[in-house]
Amino acid sequence: MIQELIIKRNTYTEIDLNAIKSNYQFACSCAPNAKSIAVIKANAYGHGLVEVAKSLEDDVPAFAVAIMSEAIELREAGIAKPILILQGAQTEDELRLAGRNNFWLCVYSEHQVELVRTTSISNPVTLWFKLDSGLHRLGMSFDLLSQSLKSIEGCPWINETRVIYTHFSCSDEMKNDESDLQMEEFYSQAKNIEVEEGTKLEYSLANSSAIVRLENSHKQWNRPGIMLYGMNLFDENHSSKQKLTPAMSFYSTVIGIREIAIGESVGYGKKWTAERPSKIATLSVGYADGYPRHAKNGTPVLINGHRVKLVGRVSMDLISIDVTELSNVKIGDRAELWGRNIDASEVAECAETISYDLLTGISQRVPRVYI
Ligand SMILES: Cc1ncc(COP(=O)(O)O)c(C=O)c1O
Repeated sequence: MIQELIIKRNTYTEIDLNAIKSNYQFACSCAPNAKSIAVIKANAYGHGLVEVAKSLEDDVPAFAVAIMSEAIELREAGIAKPILILQGAQTEDELRLAGRNNFWLCVYSEHQVELVRTTSISNPVTLWFKLDSGLHRLGMSFDLLSQSLKSIEGCPWINETRVIYTHFSCSDEMKNDESDLQMEEFYSQAKNIEVEEGTKLEYSLANSSAIVRLENSHKQWNRPGIMLYGMNLFDENHSSKQKLTPAMSFYSTVIGIREIAIGESVGYGKKWTAERPSKIATLSVGYADGYPRHAKNGTPVLINGHRVKLVGRVSMDLISIDVTELSNVKIGDRAELWGRNIDASEVAECAETISYDLLTGISQRVPRVYI
C-alpha cells in the first residue's frame, strides 16, 4: 500500500498516527482534570479527517470540527463519539441533522439561539454558548448570553448541560498578557450567569497554547488543536517542544540536477543569481502541492541528511535547491520539506505565515501515507 502510493507520486506526506496519539496524551497530562476534545477541523489540520478520528476515537470524549459537512463525513465513516461543530448550525435543516446525528452545536449569535429555540429537533442537542471575551470575531456579549439562556429555559430539545466557552486571541504570544485580560473578563462574567434548576453549566477556554501555558484557563473542557499535530506552540522557545512530535513529514524527490555559472539565475523573475559556480537540484513540488509560494531564498530543505537552501521563486510544480556543497545528490533522492528535521514553523516563518497554514494547505494531489 505504502509502496503503491509512493510510486503514484514521488511527492507525499507521511502521517504518524502514533505521534498524534502521544501528542494528545501530552495535552491530557497538562490538564488532568479537564476533558480534552480533539480539534480535527480542516481535514485534521491536513492530516486526514477520518484517519485521525479513527486513531483517536478510543481515547477522546468528543471531537470538534468547524462545519457540518466535516461532522457528516465523520459519521458516514462510522465515528460514533459526539462531534462539536464550532460554527454551529446555520439553517433549520442543519439543526435537524445535528439532532439526528448527536452533533453538539456552538451558538454565537441571537440568530442561532432563535433558530434552535424555534425549530423542533428529534433528539436533544448539547449547546456550547460562545462568550466574546475579546477576540471579537464570533461570540455573544454577556447580556445576550444571559438573555439567550433565559429564552431557552424548558426547551425540550436542548440538553440540560450547557457549556459556556471562549477563545483566546494571543495565547501563543509568550509576552502578551491579553489572555489574562480575557480570562478575567470571562470568569467575572461567568460567575454572574444564572440558569434554571436542573441545568448544569460547564466551561471551556483553552486551546493548545493555553493548555500548555495558562493553567488558569483549564476548566471542564479543553480544546487542543495544533498541539495534536506536534507543532511549535509559541512565538518563542518553549519546553513543550520536546514533548511534542511532528506528525506530518512532507517529502519530495529530485527530478533534475544542473550546474550553473556565476551570474546565472534560477526560476521565474530571476529572483536568485549564483554568486559562485553552483549545483542546483530541482524537486517535484510547488505551490500547487501546498509548498508555500512565498517561501524565500534560503528556506531550509533537508536532503541526504544535510540542510540546504531553497533558491529562486517557488513555481506551481517545482522548487530548486542549492546543493553545490553536496557531492552525492542524484536524481531520485528524497528531500524533507518539513517534518522531524525541518520544523514546519521554520518554513512558515520563511514564507511569512504560520504552521497551521502550511499543514492545512497540502493539496489533494499529494498522497498521504500513514505509518
Ligand atoms: C474555537 C476553537 N477552539 C479551539 C481551537 C484549536 O486551537 P489550536 O489549534 O490553537 O489548539 C480552534 C482553532 O482555531 C478554535 O477555533
